[in-house]
Amino acid sequence: MSDPSVGFIIHNLKQVVTLAGSSLPRRGKEMSELAVIEDGAIVVANGKIAEVGSEADLLAQFPNSRRVDGQGAVCLPGFVDPHTHLPFYGTRENDFEARILGKSYAEIALAGGGIRSTMRATRKASLDDLVTAAKPRLDRMLCSGTTTAEAKSGYGLNLETERRQLLAIKELDEVHPVDLVATNLAAHEVPDEYREDKEAYIRLLCDKLLPELKELAQFCDIFCEDHVYSAKESRRILSRAKEHGYQIKIHADEIESVGGAELACELGAVSADHLGRISEAGIKGLASCETIAVLLPGTTFYLNLPNKAPARKMIEAGVAVALATDLNPGSCLTESMPAILTIACADLRMTPGEVITAATINAAHAVGMGDSRGSLERGKWADFVLWDIPHWRYLPTHFGVNLVKDVYKKGRRVVQDGRRVSS
Ligand code: NIG
Ligand code: FE
Repeated sequence: MSDPSVGFIIHNLKQVVTLAGSSLPRRGKEMSELAVIEDGAIVVANGKIAEVGSEADLLAQFPNSRRVDGQGAVCLPGFVDPHTHLPFYGTRENDFEARILGKSYAEIALAGGGIRSTMRATRKASLDDLVTAAKPRLDRMLCSGTTTAEAKSGYGLNLETERRQLLAIKELDEVHPVDLVATNLAAHEVPDEYREDKEAYIRLLCDKLLPELKELAQFCDIFCEDHVYSAKESRRILSRAKEHGYQIKIHADEIESVGGAELACELGAVSADHLGRISEAGIKGLASCETIAVLLPGTTFYLNLPNKAPARKMIEAGVAVALATDLNPGSCLTESMPAILTIACADLRMTPGEVITAATINAAHAVGMGDSRGSLERGKWADFVLWDIPHWRYLPTHFGVNLVKDVYKKGRRVVQDGRRVSS
């Protein structure tokens, strides 16, 4: 393996899709401007990008650098996946089949399935179990081109298990090349033991689960829906979270329009996620505040739901749109950002250029990391992916297979010919 502190130049790249441009999230027409360099090259030193430009210029400028042949690949920034439920335990294939056979969400939950069945399995899992179960997921993410991801707790719903999930995220971040940013989602549901007294669980959240877990999580998230936490309850819980020092994310307007997007703007949330039932006022609000809309088209696809996020309307209104997998065992079990890009094109009518922006620079902003990754620009981490494709536009047209050749993380090749390089 190469020593990343020693510089090298990767050349013979058919296209380098840099996404260079504004330091702000991209909106409207900017989402289609990818700043592509034909016949490009990248100079890497100390894990960072030292220079990006045309091969002819950079080979002349750095004649003594070690050369790495890009073999005619198309190079993109590593994907940032800004919404995953990574550290879960157990599987839900019974739910999947029951849903196809016509059972409702409530019936499945009553029969012992749903979020709470994952909660029961996760509560029984040790830290080691959680880490061992999540590692192959991270390997699959990396092999599919994801180099940074957000990861949520939310299947513990008690102090001990939420902490264990966040500790698993911390350990995985330390041992695995994919960089992780942690989110406390203790407000994912109301646990069984508080079913009759939601108010008591809200007090526990505000006074214990949020403050005691702050050192393990940068973000606090909530499932804001009338049957889980109403907009009013969400405002109360998230306001406390802000006082405890968290940045905010919201599962907003997924199933019903409850003012989740408006609440996200009001609270200065970093992102509002899902948005299948966002209101007109919510779209207007997001277009004029800094909150990023993280769309999860894999979930509506997987659940066969009609309420797909109105991506076209949002982009045309000037909302900064990002895309994520929503990786979780129940509503969208995939690690693949490329699959999400295809679904976003097919179901949300986003263009290939827009989905690439949404999965890179805008996704980086959705986890507060737009200044260090998400585009290939001098000074950012050398996180990039070489794709075995003829043109960047081709990427979302070919799905269900892996077209990743090599992945570089902080200047180190961690995937070669589609396979993890053992560390
Ligand atoms: O983001 N919407 C709420 N939570 C998850 C589903 C989790 C599950 O079913 O286990 C989501 O889709
Ligand atoms: Fe989610």
